[in-house]
Amino acid sequence: MNTERKRILTGDRPTGKLHLGHYVGSLKNRVRLQDEYECFFIIADLHTLTTKPEKDAIEQLADNVRSAALDYLACGIDPAKSVIYLQSAVPEVCELAVLFDNLITVPRLSRVPSLKEMAQGAGIEEMPFGLLGYPVLQAADILMPRAHLVPVGKDNVAHVEVTREIARRFNFLYGETFPVPDVLVSEYGSLVGTDGDAKMSKSLGNAIYLSDDEKTVTKRVMSMYTDPNRVTADVPGTVEGNPVFQYHDAFNPNLAEVEDLKARYRLGKVGDVEVKEKLAKALNAFLDPIRERRAKYEATPGLADEVVYDGTMKMREEGRATLSIALKAMGLSAVWNRISRKAEDVKKKREREGK
Ligand code: TRP
Repeated sequence: MNTERKRILTGDRPTGKLHLGHYVGSLKNRVRLQDEYECFFIIADLHTLTTKPEKDAIEQLADNVRSAALDYLACGIDPAKSVIYLQSAVPEVCELAVLFDNLITVPRLSRVPSLKEMAQGAGIEEMPFGLLGYPVLQAADILMPRAHLVPVGKDNVAHVEVTREIARRFNFLYGETFPVPDVLVSEYGSLVGTDGDAKMSKSLGNAIYLSDDEKTVTKRVMSMYTDPNRVTADVPGTVEGNPVFQYHDAFNPNLAEVEDLKARYRLGKVGDVEVKEKLAKALNAFLDPIRERRAKYEATPGLADEVVYDGTMKMREEGRATLSIALKAMGLSAVWNRISRKAEDVKKKREREGK
Protein backbone atom coordinates (compact mmCIF):
# COMPACT_ATOMS: atom_id res chain seq x y z
CA MET A 1 0.00 0.00 0.00
CA ASN A 2 1.21 3.51 -0.85
CA THR A 3 2.12 5.06 2.47
CA GLU A 4 2.21 8.59 1.09
CA ARG A 5 -1.52 8.77 0.58
CA LYS A 6 -3.44 10.63 3.24
CA ARG A 7 -5.92 8.70 5.30
CA ILE A 8 -9.67 8.69 5.82
CA LEU A 9 -11.53 7.17 8.73
CA THR A 10 -15.29 7.12 8.94
CA GLY A 11 -18.10 4.64 9.48
CA ASP A 12 -21.44 3.85 11.06
CA ARG A 13 -23.05 2.24 14.04
CA PRO A 14 -24.44 -1.15 13.01
CA THR A 15 -28.10 -0.45 13.74
CA GLY A 16 -29.50 -2.13 10.61
CA LYS A 17 -29.82 -1.54 6.91
CA LEU A 18 -28.36 1.69 5.54
CA HIS A 19 -30.62 4.09 3.66
CA LEU A 20 -30.39 6.87 1.06
CA GLY A 21 -29.62 9.39 3.83
CA HIS A 22 -26.47 7.46 4.72
CA TYR A 23 -25.53 7.39 1.05
CA VAL A 24 -25.94 11.12 0.51
CA GLY A 25 -24.44 12.00 3.89
CA SER A 26 -21.26 9.99 3.68
CA LEU A 27 -21.16 6.81 1.57
CA LYS A 28 -21.02 8.75 -1.68
CA ASN A 29 -17.93 10.62 -0.50
CA ARG A 30 -16.32 7.38 0.67
CA VAL A 31 -16.69 5.67 -2.67
CA ARG A 32 -15.47 8.77 -4.48
CA LEU A 33 -12.38 9.23 -2.31
CA GLN A 34 -11.14 5.67 -1.98
CA ASP A 35 -8.54 5.98 -4.76
CA GLU A 36 -7.21 9.29 -3.51
CA TYR A 37 -7.01 8.31 0.17
CA GLU A 38 -6.13 5.23 2.13
CA CYS A 39 -9.53 4.48 3.67
CA PHE A 40 -10.58 2.87 6.93
CA PHE A 41 -14.28 2.19 7.48
CA ILE A 42 -15.34 1.40 11.00
CA ILE A 43 -18.42 -0.57 11.94
CA ALA A 44 -18.78 1.02 15.37
CA ASP A 45 -20.54 -1.59 17.46
CA LEU A 46 -19.17 -0.26 20.78
CA HIS A 47 -20.91 3.02 20.05
CA THR A 48 -24.30 1.26 19.91
CA LEU A 49 -23.85 0.32 23.58
CA THR A 50 -24.08 3.99 24.57
CA THR A 51 -27.85 3.89 24.03
CA LYS A 52 -28.50 0.13 23.73
CA PRO A 53 -26.50 -1.89 26.24
CA GLU A 54 -29.11 -4.64 26.57
CA LYS A 55 -28.25 -8.21 25.77
CA ASP A 56 -30.91 -8.60 23.09
CA ALA A 57 -29.51 -5.57 21.23
CA ILE A 58 -26.03 -7.09 21.39
CA GLU A 59 -27.37 -10.34 19.98
CA GLN A 60 -28.48 -8.39 16.89
CA LEU A 61 -25.04 -6.96 16.25
CA ALA A 62 -23.51 -9.76 14.17
CA ASP A 63 -26.37 -9.61 11.65
CA ASN A 64 -26.22 -5.82 11.59
CA VAL A 65 -22.46 -5.81 11.07
CA ARG A 66 -22.81 -8.18 8.11
CA SER A 67 -25.59 -6.05 6.65
CA ALA A 68 -23.53 -2.84 7.01
CA ALA A 69 -20.55 -4.52 5.33
CA LEU A 70 -22.77 -5.70 2.48
CA ASP A 71 -24.19 -2.19 2.09
CA TYR A 72 -20.64 -0.77 1.86
CA LEU A 73 -19.57 -3.36 -0.68
CA ALA A 74 -22.77 -2.93 -2.68
CA CYS A 75 -22.15 0.82 -2.89
CA GLY A 76 -18.76 0.18 -4.43
CA ILE A 77 -16.36 0.21 -1.54
CA ASP A 78 -13.58 -2.05 -2.75
CA PRO A 79 -12.00 -4.30 -0.10
CA ALA A 80 -8.83 -4.48 -2.20
CA LYS A 81 -8.36 -0.76 -1.64
CA SER A 82 -10.09 -0.01 1.67
CA VAL A 83 -10.24 -1.49 5.13
CA ILE A 84 -13.63 -2.37 6.65
CA TYR A 85 -13.32 -3.41 10.29
CA LEU A 86 -15.21 -4.18 13.49
CA GLN A 87 -14.56 -1.73 16.31
CA SER A 88 -15.01 -4.08 19.28
CA ALA A 89 -12.49 -6.55 17.82
CA VAL A 90 -9.72 -3.94 18.00
CA PRO A 91 -9.46 -3.48 21.78
CA GLU A 92 -6.64 -0.92 21.48
CA VAL A 93 -9.35 1.65 20.75
CA CYS A 94 -10.54 1.39 24.35
CA GLU A 95 -7.08 2.02 25.73
CA LEU A 96 -6.63 5.03 23.49
CA ALA A 97 -10.04 6.36 24.58
CA VAL A 98 -9.06 6.06 28.26
CA LEU A 99 -5.98 8.18 27.55
CA PHE A 100 -8.08 10.73 25.67
CA ASP A 101 -10.67 10.93 28.48
CA ASN A 102 -8.27 13.22 30.31
CA LEU A 103 -7.87 15.70 27.48
CA ILE A 104 -11.42 17.06 27.36
CA THR A 105 -13.77 18.37 30.03
CA VAL A 106 -17.24 17.29 31.08
CA PRO A 107 -18.78 20.74 30.43
CA ARG A 108 -17.31 20.67 26.90
CA LEU A 109 -18.86 17.27 26.19
CA SER A 110 -22.14 18.35 27.77
CA ARG A 111 -22.43 21.02 25.08
CA VAL A 112 -22.39 18.50 22.19
CA PRO A 113 -26.02 18.75 21.03
CA SER A 114 -26.34 15.32 19.37
CA LEU A 115 -25.72 13.47 22.65
CA LYS A 116 -28.82 14.88 24.30
CA GLU A 117 -30.78 14.11 21.14
CA MET A 118 -29.55 10.52 21.15
CA ALA A 119 -30.49 10.11 24.81
CA GLN A 120 -33.94 11.55 24.15
CA GLY A 121 -34.42 9.40 21.08
CA ALA A 122 -33.61 6.30 23.12
CA GLY A 123 -35.88 7.36 25.98
CA ILE A 124 -32.95 7.72 28.40
CA GLU A 125 -33.55 10.28 31.16
CA GLU A 126 -30.10 10.74 32.62
CA MET A 127 -26.94 10.89 30.55
CA PRO A 128 -24.92 7.65 30.81
CA PHE A 129 -21.19 8.13 31.25
CA GLY A 130 -20.55 6.20 28.03
CA LEU A 131 -22.89 8.39 26.00
CA LEU A 132 -21.21 11.55 27.32
CA GLY A 133 -17.95 9.94 26.21
CA TYR A 134 -19.29 8.99 22.77
CA PRO A 135 -17.22 11.68 21.01
CA VAL A 136 -14.10 10.63 22.94
CA LEU A 137 -14.43 7.03 21.73
CA GLN A 138 -15.02 8.43 18.26
CA ALA A 139 -11.81 10.47 18.60
CA ALA A 140 -9.98 7.23 19.40
CA ASP A 141 -11.49 5.65 16.26
CA ILE A 142 -10.38 8.54 14.10
CA LEU A 143 -6.91 9.00 15.55
CA MET A 144 -6.08 5.29 15.69
CA PRO A 145 -5.11 5.16 12.00
CA ARG A 146 -3.98 8.81 12.35
CA ALA A 147 -6.61 9.92 9.83
CA HIS A 148 -6.44 13.29 8.05
CA LEU A 149 -10.02 13.48 6.81
CA VAL A 150 -13.38 12.39 8.22
CA PRO A 151 -16.34 12.40 5.81
CA VAL A 152 -19.54 12.48 7.88
CA GLY A 153 -23.10 13.74 7.91
CA LYS A 154 -24.01 17.07 9.51
CA ASP A 155 -24.91 15.55 12.89
CA ASN A 156 -21.37 14.25 13.37
CA VAL A 157 -19.52 17.50 12.70
CA ALA A 158 -19.55 18.43 16.40
CA HIS A 159 -18.00 15.04 17.22
CA VAL A 160 -15.13 15.57 14.81
CA GLU A 161 -14.58 18.99 16.41
CA VAL A 162 -14.03 17.17 19.72
CA THR A 163 -11.51 14.91 17.96
CA ARG A 164 -9.64 17.97 16.70
CA GLU A 165 -9.49 19.44 20.19
CA ILE A 166 -8.23 16.17 21.66
CA ALA A 167 -5.57 15.84 18.95
CA ARG A 168 -4.38 19.41 19.57
CA ARG A 169 -4.32 18.91 23.33
CA PHE A 170 -2.39 15.64 23.00
CA ASN A 171 0.16 17.27 20.70
CA PHE A 172 0.49 20.23 23.05
CA LEU A 173 1.10 18.07 26.14
CA TYR A 174 3.18 15.27 24.64
CA GLY A 175 4.61 16.57 21.36
CA GLU A 176 3.44 16.35 17.74
CA THR A 177 1.84 12.90 17.48
CA PHE A 178 -1.54 13.08 15.75
CA PRO A 179 -2.73 14.94 12.67
CA VAL A 180 -5.60 17.33 13.44
CA PRO A 181 -8.17 15.82 11.06
CA ASP A 182 -10.44 17.83 8.79
CA VAL A 183 -14.15 17.14 8.54
CA LEU A 184 -15.81 16.69 5.16
CA VAL A 185 -19.56 17.29 5.20
CA SER A 186 -21.58 16.20 2.20
CA GLU A 187 -22.97 18.81 -0.15
CA TYR A 188 -26.55 17.85 0.77
CA GLY A 189 -26.24 18.01 4.52
CA SER A 190 -28.83 15.50 5.65
CA LEU A 191 -31.52 14.04 3.47
CA VAL A 192 -35.17 14.67 4.41
CA GLY A 193 -37.44 11.71 5.08
CA THR A 194 -40.13 10.53 2.65
CA ASP A 195 -42.65 12.11 5.06
CA GLY A 196 -41.01 15.54 4.87
CA ASP A 197 -39.45 15.18 8.33
CA ALA A 198 -36.07 16.93 8.57
CA LYS A 199 -34.16 13.66 8.68
CA MET A 200 -34.37 10.26 7.05
CA SER A 201 -34.16 7.77 9.86
CA LYS A 202 -34.94 4.15 10.49
CA SER A 203 -36.74 4.93 13.76
CA LEU A 204 -39.03 7.47 12.05
CA GLY A 205 -40.08 4.94 9.41
CA ASN A 206 -39.44 7.45 6.63
CA ALA A 207 -36.49 5.79 4.92
CA ILE A 208 -35.75 4.25 1.55
CA TYR A 209 -33.08 1.57 1.97
CA LEU A 210 -30.16 0.82 -0.32
CA SER A 211 -31.35 -2.79 -0.26
CA ASP A 212 -34.99 -2.04 -1.19
CA ASP A 213 -36.22 -3.70 -4.39
CA GLU A 214 -37.68 -1.79 -7.31
CA LYS A 215 -41.31 -2.26 -6.28
CA THR A 216 -40.71 -1.10 -2.71
CA VAL A 217 -38.86 2.01 -3.89
CA THR A 218 -41.60 2.91 -6.34
CA LYS A 219 -44.26 2.44 -3.67
CA ARG A 220 -42.37 4.60 -1.16
CA VAL A 221 -41.88 7.35 -3.73
CA MET A 222 -45.50 7.38 -4.89
CA SER A 223 -46.66 7.94 -1.30
CA MET A 224 -44.09 10.66 -0.56
CA TYR A 225 -44.98 13.92 1.09
CA THR A 226 -44.94 16.90 -1.31
CA ASP A 227 -46.35 20.42 -1.24
CA PRO A 228 -49.48 20.07 0.96
CA ASN A 229 -51.09 23.21 -0.53
CA ARG A 230 -51.25 21.65 -3.93
CA VAL A 231 -54.66 19.99 -3.91
CA THR A 232 -54.79 19.63 -7.70
CA ALA A 233 -52.17 19.58 -10.45
CA ASP A 234 -53.04 23.07 -11.73
CA VAL A 235 -52.18 24.81 -8.43
CA PRO A 236 -48.69 26.40 -8.59
CA GLY A 237 -46.41 24.43 -6.25
CA THR A 238 -43.34 25.11 -4.12
CA VAL A 239 -40.11 23.41 -5.14
CA GLU A 240 -37.89 24.69 -2.32
CA GLY A 241 -37.89 22.33 0.63
CA ASN A 242 -40.13 19.88 -1.22
CA PRO A 243 -38.76 16.40 -0.48
CA VAL A 244 -39.59 15.05 -3.94
CA PHE A 245 -37.44 17.73 -5.55
CA GLN A 246 -34.69 17.35 -2.96
CA TYR A 247 -34.47 13.69 -4.00
CA HIS A 248 -34.49 14.67 -7.68
CA ASP A 249 -31.58 17.01 -6.98
CA ALA A 250 -29.67 14.33 -5.09
CA PHE A 251 -30.31 11.31 -7.34
CA ASN A 252 -31.56 12.30 -10.79
CA PRO A 253 -28.58 12.84 -13.12
CA ASN A 254 -30.86 14.20 -15.87
CA LEU A 255 -30.59 17.89 -14.95
CA ALA A 256 -32.69 19.07 -17.91
CA GLU A 257 -35.55 16.81 -16.83
CA VAL A 258 -35.34 18.08 -13.24
CA GLU A 259 -35.30 21.74 -14.38
CA ASP A 260 -38.30 21.12 -16.65
CA LEU A 261 -40.26 19.45 -13.83
CA LYS A 262 -39.45 22.27 -11.43
CA ALA A 263 -40.51 24.94 -13.92
CA ARG A 264 -43.81 23.22 -14.68
CA TYR A 265 -44.41 22.50 -10.98
CA ARG A 266 -44.06 26.18 -10.13
CA LEU A 267 -46.58 27.06 -12.83
CA GLY A 268 -49.07 24.35 -11.89
CA LYS A 269 -48.47 22.54 -15.16
CA VAL A 270 -47.44 19.10 -13.97
CA GLY A 271 -49.08 16.53 -11.70
CA ASP A 272 -47.39 15.07 -8.62
CA VAL A 273 -47.74 11.65 -10.20
CA GLU A 274 -45.46 12.51 -13.13
CA VAL A 275 -42.87 14.10 -10.84
CA LYS A 276 -42.90 11.03 -8.62
CA GLU A 277 -42.84 8.50 -11.45
CA LYS A 278 -39.74 10.18 -12.86
CA LEU A 279 -38.16 10.17 -9.41
CA ALA A 280 -38.90 6.48 -8.89
CA LYS A 281 -37.31 5.75 -12.26
CA ALA A 282 -34.22 7.79 -11.42
CA LEU A 283 -33.88 6.21 -7.98
CA ASN A 284 -34.21 2.70 -9.34
CA ALA A 285 -31.63 3.46 -12.02
CA PHE A 286 -29.31 4.74 -9.28
CA LEU A 287 -29.91 1.63 -7.15
CA ASP A 288 -29.58 -0.93 -9.96
CA PRO A 289 -25.76 -1.17 -9.96
CA ILE A 290 -25.86 -1.29 -6.13
CA ARG A 291 -28.32 -4.20 -6.34
CA GLU A 292 -26.10 -6.00 -8.85
CA ARG A 293 -23.00 -5.70 -6.66
CA ARG A 294 -24.94 -6.85 -3.61
CA ALA A 295 -26.19 -9.92 -5.47
CA LYS A 296 -22.61 -10.79 -6.46
CA TYR A 297 -21.39 -10.61 -2.86
CA GLU A 298 -24.42 -12.46 -1.54
CA ALA A 299 -23.83 -15.26 -4.03
CA THR A 300 -20.88 -16.34 -1.87
CA PRO A 301 -22.10 -16.62 1.72
CA GLY A 302 -19.39 -15.59 4.18
CA LEU A 303 -17.64 -13.26 1.73
CA ALA A 304 -18.75 -10.12 3.59
CA ASP A 305 -17.65 -11.73 6.88
CA GLU A 306 -14.23 -12.42 5.39
CA VAL A 307 -13.88 -8.79 4.31
CA VAL A 308 -14.59 -7.63 7.86
CA TYR A 309 -12.23 -10.27 9.28
CA ASP A 310 -9.32 -9.27 7.03
CA GLY A 311 -9.92 -5.57 7.66
CA THR A 312 -10.04 -6.11 11.41
CA MET A 313 -6.70 -7.96 11.35
CA LYS A 314 -5.13 -5.03 9.49
CA MET A 315 -6.64 -2.58 11.92
CA ARG A 316 -5.25 -4.48 14.90
CA GLU A 317 -1.76 -3.84 13.57
CA GLU A 318 -2.58 -0.15 13.17
CA GLY A 319 -4.00 -0.09 16.69
CA ARG A 320 -0.93 -1.63 18.28
CA ALA A 321 1.41 0.69 16.35
CA THR A 322 -0.49 3.87 17.24
CA LEU A 323 -0.92 2.91 20.86
CA SER A 324 2.77 2.27 21.19
CA ILE A 325 3.54 5.67 19.63
CA ALA A 326 1.07 7.40 21.96
CA LEU A 327 2.33 5.66 25.10
CA LYS A 328 5.91 6.49 24.18
CA ALA A 329 5.06 10.15 23.52
CA MET A 330 3.35 10.38 26.92
CA GLY A 331 6.26 8.68 28.65
CA LEU A 332 3.84 6.10 29.99
CA SER A 333 5.58 3.08 28.48
CA ALA A 334 8.76 4.24 30.27
CA VAL A 335 7.04 3.78 33.62
CA TRP A 336 6.48 0.08 33.09
CA ASN A 337 9.84 -0.29 31.38
CA ARG A 338 11.65 1.01 34.44
CA ILE A 339 9.64 -1.06 36.90
CA SER A 340 9.85 -4.26 34.87
CA ARG A 341 13.57 -3.90 34.15
CA LYS A 342 14.34 -3.55 37.85
CA ALA A 343 12.06 -6.46 38.69
CA GLU A 344 13.77 -8.66 36.11
CA ASP A 345 17.20 -7.69 37.46
CA VAL A 346 16.16 -8.65 40.96
CA LYS A 347 14.77 -12.00 39.77
CA LYS A 348 17.96 -12.79 37.82
CA LYS A 349 20.14 -11.85 40.75
CA ARG A 350 18.15 -14.11 43.04
CA GLU A 351 18.48 -16.98 40.56
CA ARG A 352 22.23 -16.49 40.30
CA GLU A 353 22.54 -16.57 44.05
CA GLY A 354 20.45 -19.75 44.04
CA LYS A 355 17.92 -18.49 46.56
N1 TRP B 1 -20.87 8.55 15.15
C1 TRP B 1 -21.12 7.81 13.93
C2 TRP B 1 -22.66 7.64 13.81
O1 TRP B 1 -23.36 8.59 13.95
C3 TRP B 1 -20.43 6.48 13.92
C4 TRP B 1 -18.95 6.56 14.15
C5 TRP B 1 -18.28 5.95 15.14
C6 TRP B 1 -18.01 7.29 13.37
N2 TRP B 1 -16.95 6.23 15.04
C7 TRP B 1 -16.73 7.03 13.99
C8 TRP B 1 -18.09 8.14 12.26
C9 TRP B 1 -15.58 7.63 13.49
C10 TRP B 1 -16.93 8.72 11.76
C11 TRP B 1 -15.67 8.47 12.40
O2 TRP B 1 -23.17 6.58 13.57
